Amino acid sequence: MTEPAASAVAIHDLRKAFGATIAVADVSFTIMPGVAHALLGENGAGKSTIVKLLSGLIEPDRGTISLFGKEVRLSSPRIAHRLGVQTAFQEMTLTPDQTVLGNMLLPYGPQGWTGMIRWRAAEGAVRAHFESLGIEIELWREVGELDLAVQQKIEIARAIFRKPRLLLLDEPTSTLAGGDVDWLGDIIARLKQQGVTILFISHRIREVRAFCENVTILRNGRHIATAPVTQLSDAQIVEMIIGRSLAQTFPARPAQRPDAPEVLGVRDLAAGQRLEAATFSLKRGEILGVAGLQGMGQLDLFLGCFGMTDVHRGQILVDGRAVTIASPTDALRANIGIGFLPEDRKTEALFSELDGRHNASLPVVDRFCRFGLIQGASEEGAVDRAFAQVAVEHRALWTPVKSFSGGNQQKIAVAKWLLAQSRILLLFDPTRGIDVGTKHELYVLMRAYAASGGSILFHSTEAPELVHLCDRVLVLYAGKIVEEIGAGALTENRIMHAALGGDAKSITA
Ligand SMILES: Nc1ncnc2c1ncn2[C@@H]1O[C@H](COP(=O)(O)OP(=O)(O)O)[C@@H](O)[C@H]1O
Ligand SMILES: [Mg+2]
Repeated sequence: MTEPAASAVAIHDLRKAFGATIAVADVSFTIMPGVAHALLGENGAGKSTIVKLLSGLIEPDRGTISLFGKEVRLSSPRIAHRLGVQTAFQEMTLTPDQTVLGNMLLPYGPQGWTGMIRWRAAEGAVRAHFESLGIEIELWREVGELDLAVQQKIEIARAIFRKPRLLLLDEPTSTLAGGDVDWLGDIIARLKQQGVTILFISHRIREVRAFCENVTILRNGRHIATAPVTQLSDAQIVEMIIGRSLAQTFPARPAQRPDAPEVLGVRDLAAGQRLEAATFSLKRGEILGVAGLQGMGQLDLFLGCFGMTDVHRGQILVDGRAVTIASPTDALRANIGIGFLPEDRKTEALFSELDGRHNASLPVVDRFCRFGLIQGASEEGAVDRAFAQVAVEHRALWTPVKSFSGGNQQKIAVAKWLLAQSRILLLFDPTRGIDVGTKHELYVLMRAYAASGGSILFHSTEAPELVHLCDRVLVLYAGKIVEEIGAGALTENRIMHAALGGDAKSITA
């Protein structure tokens, strides 16, 4: 008989409560060495608590943790480090007023003046490490000056610098853009080859499939399933995460109102680099979907309607009147009233260092100004009401938005446009990278906004959102609207077919 190979991580009946909240309830799973294992669950499911338990930041109320075949007691981060556990935390742990180099060496950097010589050696080692990871960051810059994606890469690089046997990555990609996500994927693959075990947390199933062999799904602190990713469909994963079927995550679609007036009219519009011809009506109370594979003109359509790219030809009408939208300021004017949620909310929609109150009231700050001074109390009251509408915590008023999850940041961005009393919202892939629970809240919010008379133009890269949430969908192909599909005929197949440039008449269903 052969002995079963020792696992890298075995947690058994792990339980942790914070006061009345049971963050992790009797969770057990195993990870074999050199395997990347994903931990999935909505916000609050208990993922970070497991990361903190494995990092020695907190101790369990009950249950056991074994690392590399031995039961261990992780009573401090130092003990976890000694056992080969390193972590890139969700709330990054870099010290902003220290240099990149200083942060890389924390907390074990050379101390005192005798350390001066060792700093030189350390600098060389960090430089070589960054090179091996393909990172170019100046070592003497203060970390606080760098943008979040760079900070995230330093947080990850630091964990790897300490030569982990087990690397814990808590939502690293929520602050990384596309190219950096590929960067991380390459590094994970390389580490696995070297035998490093990885626990990876992300809300994006695509990444999980690309990086990880197995998944564990948590819901309300409970262990729902552990399985090879290839054995589960996306729909199964989502349903286990949220505990209800996918169709139920979308609010009911109200009956069509064909007589609803046009609010936004677009006639033969050509804009930016890619949009060549778009003609459509967005009606009052409608969610109008825009489908298209990447780069088919959808971004230019949205930017054109918000005055952020050149319009070369055609006309935009608001309430039947031709308007000129040459800048976002034009789009915001009361008689136009367009709000825009761009793809990358981190760089475009919100100022991540500012608190939620100031972010939300930026477009309408004039309204709160008397004699050039912002009237704090009236501003706060109005923003607070808008936040309540989108179900964002009260503390968002005074907390920098960067400290919130992507989903909550998105809700703050929506609050900003509600506050600006926008009648038309342009939402460009607003649920990207957001956990499924918050996605559901955004869907409900969108439907409520439409029901109260607002109109939404909505681009999504997720076909189910187009199929289940929209009243109609326009499909763009090579810069032109090639098809319009009504609610009754919406299927993923139909959208995909048109998006690939297929002839609508050639398919059934
Ligand atoms: N230090 C803490 N004090 C009180 N409650 C906490 C603490 N840390 C986490 N929680 C609660 O435990 C639950 C799980 O949180 P967490 O592990 O951070 O979830 P996830 O990372 O999956 O979003 C949540 O309800 C959260 O509010
Ligand atoms: Mg977390």
